[in-house]
Amino acid sequence: MPYTLLIRHCGQLLTLAGPPATRPLAGPDQANWRIIADGYVACENDRIVAVGPMAELDEGQLTPATRIVEAHGRVVMPGLVECHTHLVFGGQRAAEFERKLRGESYLDILAGGGGILSTVRATRAASEAELLADALRHLADFRRYGVTTLEAKSGYGLDAETELRLVRVAREAGRQQPVRVVPTFLGAHVPGPEYAGRPADYLAMLVADVLPRLDPAEVPFVDIFCEQGAFSVAESRQYLAAARDLGFGLKIHAEQMHELGGCEMAAQLGAISLDHADYLSTAAAARIAAATQGRTVAVLLPLVPLFLRLEQYAPGRAFIDAGLPVALSTDFNPGSCPSKNLWLALSMGCLKMGLTPAEAVAAVTRNAAWAIGQQQECGSLAPGLRADVLVLNVATLPEIPYWLGDNPVRQVFIGGELVAENP
Ligand code: NIG
Ligand code: FE
Repeated sequence: MPYTLLIRHCGQLLTLAGPPATRPLAGPDQANWRIIADGYVACENDRIVAVGPMAELDEGQLTPATRIVEAHGRVVMPGLVECHTHLVFGGQRAAEFERKLRGESYLDILAGGGGILSTVRATRAASEAELLADALRHLADFRRYGVTTLEAKSGYGLDAETELRLVRVAREAGRQQPVRVVPTFLGAHVPGPEYAGRPADYLAMLVADVLPRLDPAEVPFVDIFCEQGAFSVAESRQYLAAARDLGFGLKIHAEQMHELGGCEMAAQLGAISLDHADYLSTAAAARIAAATQGRTVAVLLPLVPLFLRLEQYAPGRAFIDAGLPVALSTDFNPGSCPSKNLWLALSMGCLKMGLTPAEAVAAVTRNAAWAIGQQQECGSLAPGLRADVLVLNVATLPEIPYWLGDNPVRQVFIGGELVAENP
């Protein structure tokens, strides 16, 4: 079949392709993927069918109907994979932002009934239509940043019906616009206000009443917040084991503010990703990398310590050197990161976590896709994958983290269709 879309004269084509095929990029592989100089990407409908240097382009596959996009020597790369967001919520927390600027801590505000719990009140009060409209607005913003696949957690309902509503909204938002949405169930964000002081009872309710009403084919992952003021390691272990037995993939928010051992526990249960990890030690990271054979991804969220005014950033450089695959994400949510700028997170991954530009680009594409089980669909440019492609405004890879806070995206293609174009 002839090409329906051809993006040509890509100055640097960041394919993110290359071995290994069976696990995320770890160690030296995180930087050693293939870049093609003066390359092209060819697509048939929603799939990539060929990638290579211009000298090898098969002109015989072009027809008058082929849409030809000239990259004019710019960088072309896979669509961004945003692998950790709390997309669906009501209200906003600008007043708490001011309190934090005056010196109050995140966990103190939470312990006083604010923080996550204040967003829970606003979320419960919002209608399903309002939540959907907000989620669609945020997805439109993400799309302009070049995000083509996005994970969306529930977690601001904290009762059975509202949590199920948030999952419904995430799925509906995925249907109503082009960015692919992968829902995660984070009912175990903190104990619901009706279960204050009874975290184990709250988790038992989720296992008995909510998880059985979710289909792992539609909501592939279950997540939990393992931290002081949320859930202990023992509670998290029991809950994640129950979720695993029901067929869900596992994720965890752990080692965000204290080294409790949640990451290692979740890795032992076969979690697909360990998120935050600011307090994960290099020794524990090395043990996890060895025990999981580099299959569990550390999802690092550098905009969170920035926004919470914390000093401790995950030692991403040491994690990669220890063989742990690293992804980067915004953690978009109303409390600890109201930013949708994954490019800024990428730059901060270089500046505060020590990643190289090539490692950081892999962290928002191929490894991010692995962190949400989407590596067969997106995260690199190779035949058979979905035609999710970005044409950037820059000419070389290091310029991506260099233009701090910028949006380098010129054109966004999802499934071979142009879905955003920035001036
Ligand atoms: O990933 N750490 C826990 N949950 C979110 C923040 C939620 C909130 O403050 O509303 C996070 O940072
Ligand atoms: Fe989060």
